[in-house]
Amino acid sequence: MGLAKKAEEAAVEEAEEAKEAKEAKEREERMRRLEERVKACKKCELWSLRRNAVVGEGSLLADVMFVGEAPGYYEDLKGRPFVGKAGKVLDELLASVHLERKDVYICNVLKCRPPKNRDPKPEEIESCTPFLDEQIEIIQPKVIATLGNYSLQYIFSKFNMKAEKISKIHGRIFTVETLNGTLKIIPLYHPAVAIYNSAMREVLFEDFKVLPKLLSEQHNKRERG
Ligand code: URA
Ligand code: SF4
Repeated sequence: MGLAKKAEEAAVEEAEEAKEAKEAKEREERMRRLEERVKACKKCELWSLRRNAVVGEGSLLADVMFVGEAPGYYEDLKGRPFVGKAGKVLDELLASVHLERKDVYICNVLKCRPPKNRDPKPEEIESCTPFLDEQIEIIQPKVIATLGNYSLQYIFSKFNMKAEKISKIHGRIFTVETLNGTLKIIPLYHPAVAIYNSAMREVLFEDFKVLPKLLSEQHNKRERG
């Protein structure tokens, strides 16, 4: 390759990096403002019991977003998603496909813990999901992996799809066109099911294998431009 061509490529790469850095900064600022609003939120009764709201964490430039159900005991204590037993399973699942938390974004349908980890109520989901909608808007993920039934139901309805039973559709890839481009949705079982059930654990590990496939497709598409 000639010197001029090399210099040109280096300049293009530099410009792309600068653009990405600017985008990351803008997203950080939007997420910071969202976090402030979540921490002050009293839209449903769960606010009065929380020690910490759990907004989410990970890369704001992530291609993959995981959406769980709601914070549990340890999440409420620490203010971070999936840091208890289910979180340990999630970490193992990520590692099995060579992903780390910092490569993805992880959040939940509800940002505050329901008492005794009871199921989310419809009115709580309705009050809280505008925050999740905003997170999706900020991050613009290429892939959303739903963890468990509440996440599946919400994400499918958001994109006008009818969710069949998780036992039927887990691990399958659903494609929707959105204003921000093509989005793949993968329904997964909740990692908590794997804690005491080794058969389910195997199913989850098997289903997770679709992620690297999708991500390499994504990567190739970007390389081709
Ligand atoms: N279960 C969830 O759905 N989310 C968490 O953050 C932790 C456990
Ligand atoms: Fe607000 Fe959501 Fe917490 Fe309810 S669960 S108080 S809607 S942040």
